[in-house]
Amino acid sequence: MSNVIVIGSQWGDEGKGKIVDWLSNKADAVVRFQGGHNAGHTLVVNEEVYKLSLLPSGVVRGKKSYIGNGVVLDLWALAEEIKTISAKGVNIDQNLLSISETTPLILSYHRELDTAREHKLQGIKIGTTGRGIGPAYEDKVGRRAIRLCDIFDIKTLKNKIENALFHHNPIRKGLGIEEIQSDNIVNQLHSMSGFIKPFVKNIWKELIDLQNEKKNILFEGAQGTMLDIDHGTYPFVTSSNTISSQAGIGSGIGMIQNSYTLGITKAYLTRVGEGPFPTEQDNSIGEKLGTLGNEFGTVTGRKRRCGWLDIVLLKQSADICGIHGMALTKLDVLDSFEKIRVCISYKYNGKKYDYLPPTITPADELEKEYIEIDGWNTSTKGCRNFEDLPSNAKKYVNILKELTGIEISLLSTSPEREDTILFKNPFS
Ligand code: IMP
Repeated sequence: MSNVIVIGSQWGDEGKGKIVDWLSNKADAVVRFQGGHNAGHTLVVNEEVYKLSLLPSGVVRGKKSYIGNGVVLDLWALAEEIKTISAKGVNIDQNLLSISETTPLILSYHRELDTAREHKLQGIKIGTTGRGIGPAYEDKVGRRAIRLCDIFDIKTLKNKIENALFHHNPIRKGLGIEEIQSDNIVNQLHSMSGFIKPFVKNIWKELIDLQNEKKNILFEGAQGTMLDIDHGTYPFVTSSNTISSQAGIGSGIGMIQNSYTLGITKAYLTRVGEGPFPTEQDNSIGEKLGTLGNEFGTVTGRKRRCGWLDIVLLKQSADICGIHGMALTKLDVLDSFEKIRVCISYKYNGKKYDYLPPTITPADELEKEYIEIDGWNTSTKGCRNFEDLPSNAKKYVNILKELTGIEISLLSTSPEREDTILFKNPFS
């Protein structure tokens, strides 16, 4: 395989950062193709912790890194992240990082609109990260986004911003937020143009060349399949397509050839923000999973909701993304549970489902069918050999494989890079 597409198979926070870092060793290039700084990918390398939101994880290993057109970019967040990561000794220059000239920008009015809508008293709350992601994608589809290539010509930029504000100012007025003048935004962008210019390129041509040269490209997904704007638990989703087919759209490679889709899967389940969560354990089990798994959002610090692994959702993700193999993470969080449960089907209004009905709301009660597996009561943390796992842990892994019909490519047993059991290298 020349290309690996890494996606989250759940609601994000599956531990993609570590796996992408692990895989980036074999990659010639790493590409972000959707989302923005709502993502939080944590890498631990020689005990040094790197928290990345916008930068592709390849930067830490000095691999060519690309931010594709499918991302929404907050220049100020990027500048801050580059500063923080550079302070850890990683040199981020234009030889390492390239950003697509057609990437839409997140501007101050997107952030303000996101927050204002989440704080309104009526209507549905999504529990967004408040980063302006949704409003920026709305502008892209509404054909009024300011793209990276627009900011270098002040005269045309002003017209484009006026066009965007023609839409935004009446909404701001309605929400009781002060209207904005185009000059403000022009000045804000002008102040960032010198910093960003060296990174701005046509990246689709470069990536297609890399593909033709049979280089290994790693596509780094953010969030998870169940947060996909089309295929997730709508409306409690993010505003981008998070599934594997977005890798091509969000980078400009029409057809990704020879690719392996790796679904990162946590051994239990979490979600942050609002929305349905059939196997949620709003009880001492959920508390224990959250404490042992340190389930707090990397970006917002919010406490994540926790529950048992849901095979129905996992199979749904696997089908929608064409997952070839799974990377199973955080198995060690289950080490001290007497009994471990896995959901295998739902019943809703008397009918059995092998997928999540799209009309489900957080208030709907689904009848869940679980299977129960004995725990192993032994530490698996740091284990690097499948044979060394306790027999019930092996049984758990094998049951997941059987129930989903998908191979397990990797098993991660701690945040440390080398604490990984390899069954199949996705690049080979
Ligand atoms: P937004 O992406 O900020 O618009 O948030 C929409 C929904 O996606 C909220 O429920 C967020 O908590 C969730 N979300 C966004 N990014 C992530 C992520 O990286 N991990 C987990 N959940 C996320």
